This record gives sequence, C-alpha cells and structure tokens, in this order.
Amino acid sequence: MSETAKLIFRGKEYEFPVITGTEGEVAIDIAKLRAQTGAITLDDAYVNTGSTQSNITFLDGENGILLYRGYPIEQLAEHSTFLEVAFLLIYGYLPKQEEFEQFRHHITYHTMIHEDLKRLYDGFPKDSHPMATLSSMICTLSGYYVDSSDPLNARHREISIHRLLAKTPTIAAYSYKKSIGQPFIYPQNKLNYVQNFMNMMFSVPAEEYILDPIVEKALDLLLILHADHEQNCSTSTVRLVGSSRANLFAAISSGVNALWGPLHGGANQAVIEMLQHIHNEGGNAAKFIAMAKDKNSTFRLMGFGHRVYKNFDPRARIIKKAADDVLKKMGIKDPLLEIAMKLEEAALSDSYFIERKLYPNVDFYSGIIYRAIGIPTNMFTVMFALGRMPGWIAQWKEMIENPSMKIGRPRQIYMGAPRRDYIPVEKR
Ligand code: CMC
Repeated sequence: MSETAKLIFRGKEYEFPVITGTEGEVAIDIAKLRAQTGAITLDDAYVNTGSTQSNITFLDGENGILLYRGYPIEQLAEHSTFLEVAFLLIYGYLPKQEEFEQFRHHITYHTMIHEDLKRLYDGFPKDSHPMATLSSMICTLSGYYVDSSDPLNARHREISIHRLLAKTPTIAAYSYKKSIGQPFIYPQNKLNYVQNFMNMMFSVPAEEYILDPIVEKALDLLLILHADHEQNCSTSTVRLVGSSRANLFAAISSGVNALWGPLHGGANQAVIEMLQHIHNEGGNAAKFIAMAKDKNSTFRLMGFGHRVYKNFDPRARIIKKAADDVLKKMGIKDPLLEIAMKLEEAALSDSYFIERKLYPNVDFYSGIIYRAIGIPTNMFTVMFALGRMPGWIAQWKEMIENPSMKIGRPRQIYMGAPRRDYIPVEKR
C-alpha cells in the first residue's frame, strides 16, 4: 500500500498521498487539500513548497550533492563541456557523437542576430546595465520569430531552443561592445561556443584575437557549474511565465530579470564590489563580518548563505580550486582573492555563520575568475545567465511537454480591510 499522510483539521481526518523522489526526498501531495478541507497552505517564500516533479536536477543541500540528470557535478566539471551539458539537461541523456555534432551544428549556425536587432542597441544609454539589455533583447527575439513561437508546437520549440542558445552569447557580447563603443564582432562558425563568445567580446577588427586555452577552459567550467539549479527564483519565474503559454523568449527574458537581483545571480557582481570595497578600506575583514552580523545593518556578506545548501555548496568548492589554479597559471596575484580567503576563514569560524549554516556559495569565488579572464564586473551576471540558459530551457521544455500542465497560480490569505463602502471625496 502506498504511503499517506494524515491531517486532522477542525475535528475531521484527511489523508494525502506521499510522493517519494528517486533520491529519497519526500513530499505530501496536497493537490486535493482545498477541495477537501476548504483550506490552503501558507508557505512564505515557498521554503517548504515543491512546485513540480522534475527529472532534471537533484540537489541535496545537507550533503552538498548536485546531479544533472543523475550525473554528479564534479564529474561533469572534470570531463564534459558546456555544450554537452546543455544537451544533457535539455534532452535528458548524454549524446552519441553524431547527435552531439548535429546539436553543435544547430547552435553554431543560429548565432547571428537579425541586422535590424542591432539597431536596438542604440536605444540603450552607454552605461545601461547589460542585464537590462540582455533581457530586452531576448524578449525582442519573439518579435522576429512570430511564425515559430508556439510553445505547443514541437518543431517551434526545437528551433526556438536552438536560436536562443545560439544567439544569447551574440546578444551578450554586443551589449558589452556597445557599452565601450567598439564595433560589433560577427560570430565565426569555425569557433566553438566559448571561443566564439570570447572572440565577440574581445576581438577588434584592427587585430587578431588569440584566446588563452586556460581562459577558455575556465569559462567553460563556470558555465557548466551554473547550468541548472532546479527550482530557484529565476527558474521558477521561467516556469511560471511559461505556464501561461507565453513563448520561450518571453519566459526566459523574465528569468533573466529574476536572476539580476543581488540575492540571486546579481550576487556575483555584488561580491566583487564588496571585496573591492573591503580592499579600499584597508582590508579589514573583521569589520565587515561584524557589520554582516549586526541586525541594525542591512549589510550581508555577499556570496554567503544559500536557501538550500546548509553545509557546503559543491559548486563553490570546485570554483575556489579553479580560481586558485587559473590565477597561478596566468601569473596573476589578485588582492581580492586574498581578501576573499580571509573573509571565508573568519566567517567559517564565527558562531553567527556556523549556527545559521552560512557557507560560501557559487558566487563567492566566480567573480575572481571572471576578473582574471578579463570579464568586466557589470557583465558577471550576464555570464551567469549564459550558463543558466540550458537549465531554464530544460525546465521550460519539461513543463510545457507535460500533458497535465496547468497555469501556475498561487493563492493567498487576504489580510486587508474588510468589505466597506466607497466614500465620495467631499465626505472623506
Ligand atoms: N550575511 C549575513 N547574514 C546572513 C546572510 C549573509 N550573506 N545570509 C543569511 N543570513 C542570515 C539572515 O540574516 C538570517 O538571520 P536570522 O535568522 O538571525 O534572522 C539567517 O541567516 C537566515 O537567512 P535568510 O535570509 O532567512 O535565508 P534565505 O534562505 O531566505 O536566503 C540567501 C538565502 C542566499 C538569499 C541569503 O543567504 C543571502 O542573502 N545571501 C547573500 C546573497 C547571495 O550570496 N546570493 C547568492 C545565492 S547563490 C546563487 C544564486 O542563487 O543565484
């Protein structure tokens, strides 16, 4: 007999099915709760709420485990490439050579953007944040592909997925080129995904650009580590918007906006700004630790803490090692890395952080690598978005291909004024 959970409410007993996941996670399925009891659940910030069953990513926050389609992140980081991981996340399995070549071909041959779209960049002020440009441009793509944007049409889904994955690096690099007043560099089909992005970012027509293989490998690694993270804020946004059957570009541009916030993907930019600030103030980590603990201050140690990871973030472990390696190999001595390590050491031995299980997250060290490989600080969150793209796409695809998909629509408990009558302005 399958397991159930009992609820006693207002003297009556109700029974609800228990769902057990592949890795032993349990959930009480309350789909019939309101119909049977008249009550809803209230779960501020969805701390205990599972919004879906998913086959894509498994995350065990207590034990620091992250699996994409069952494969440990550590193995993918060591042996795979970002594009292969993208395939894995989107289609659910590791591709055979031929399948992968075909996928790579599609992604390579959709990298150019419509020439008219380039003119839109002129409407953005020079110092516009590239996340604003990125989300606007991605949404604008839906205007260019009106005839193939039906989320319920499998062929439309496929071509939209290819276009989005392929064009995002071009859109992102152009926003950087616009901000520094350099000409846009067209994509080059002979280059791989990372090489092409870096070429569009840093080459100029006047001279040849040579990409350091250390940089290429580091960036590919960062993209893999960011590729999916189950039902986080931006992914839930993509699913929620997509559940209304808005097209893929509209749903993903909403995800980009959600990612932008400093409590989510925007933390990578905020971490470097914080480290720079600590450095400018003389490198006194203790002062900032004290500020982060002070309840009268709104300051938080950026890059610390996670809603789900309560022991360590496996991505942060890999990134910390990679940051060290990349800096050594490139012969860079970054004072911000030293401050980051000092800060981490101080925080990890402080009871405030220990009791609250606050550890460095994925964003704590990623910025050090981005800096080392020449990515400007305001582009860090864009890099996160580039990495997260396959995850958003995979989650959207899984949702839209589920025949029992419904529009997402949370409920609420109204706590405002009781019913009252309108008072004309002269009588108020
Ligand atoms: N510095 C100082 N105190 C913190 C921090 C921090 N970074 N994070 C959490 N706390 C405290 C918080 O004040 C609270 O204390 P108390 O129980 O005394 O009120 C306790 O720890 C629990 O925090 P919370 O805000 O209830 O936890 P949450 O799960 O809602 O928030 C978080 C998770 C990631 C938003 C939060 O830890 C945070 O703001 N971190 C800094 C921003 C950051 O690095 N974000 C990137 C997250 S990883 C990548 C991604 O998701 O994109």
